[in-house]
Amino acid sequence: MLPGQAAAPDGPNDLTGMFLIHHAFRRDLRRFAAAVTATPAHETRVWRALDRRWRMFGTFLHHHHTIEDAAIWPVLLGRVDPSGRATLEAMEAEHGEIDPLLEACGSGFATLAARPDEDVRRSLEIRIVAAGERLNAHLAHEETEALVLVQKHLTADEWQVVEEKSAKGAYSFRESMAAVPWVMHELPADARKRLLKMAGPVLAVLWRLTRGGFLRRETTAFRYA
Ligand SMILES: [Fe+2]
Repeated sequence: MLPGQAAAPDGPNDLTGMFLIHHAFRRDLRRFAAAVTATPAHETRVWRALDRRWRMFGTFLHHHHTIEDAAIWPVLLGRVDPSGRATLEAMEAEHGEIDPLLEACGSGFATLAARPDEDVRRSLEIRIVAAGERLNAHLAHEETEALVLVQKHLTADEWQVVEEKSAKGAYSFRESMAAVPWVMHELPADARKRLLKMAGPVLAVLWRLTRGGFLRRETTAFRYA
């Protein structure tokens, strides 16, 4: 259980990767909401950093939802009872509801990266809170219901295939490198230690190589948060 997590359903599959990425999404939305509230509209340089950071968040979220919609929910659909089916259909529908909210936030960040506009900042403040609430509700729904189905209906071998797809899948080399410090950021110390032990030395090396640059960019983007 990581901070903010709603449930960790028991079963044969190791859902660590899923929980790590959910933790990063929750953390980001919270930090973006704080940054949008506190960053003055005229700080165009900071908004540029926030805009870049928002696009990075969007890439990871899009990739995560795409894998779920393409490789997890469809496999489960053939195996679950009607109530399970309703849960899985809700997962895909919720992804569809979140996308336009995130797009609206993205256009707010892009505008503020180009020019100061206090009205845009204020409407972005409302939108980002709404997007955060929606995404949090979705992640909790997924953790409490959809992942129960993953544990019940997918074998460890099948889950392994999903994990491999989502690790390599649509990520460019650059994005994979960016994902390492992004996932590690603000993880509780015990979880970080456990992850480093589980993943082996390659992760530790990649983290060492990437964390400095990541933290510098975070400091710029979230300096008012
Ligand atoms: Fe997920």
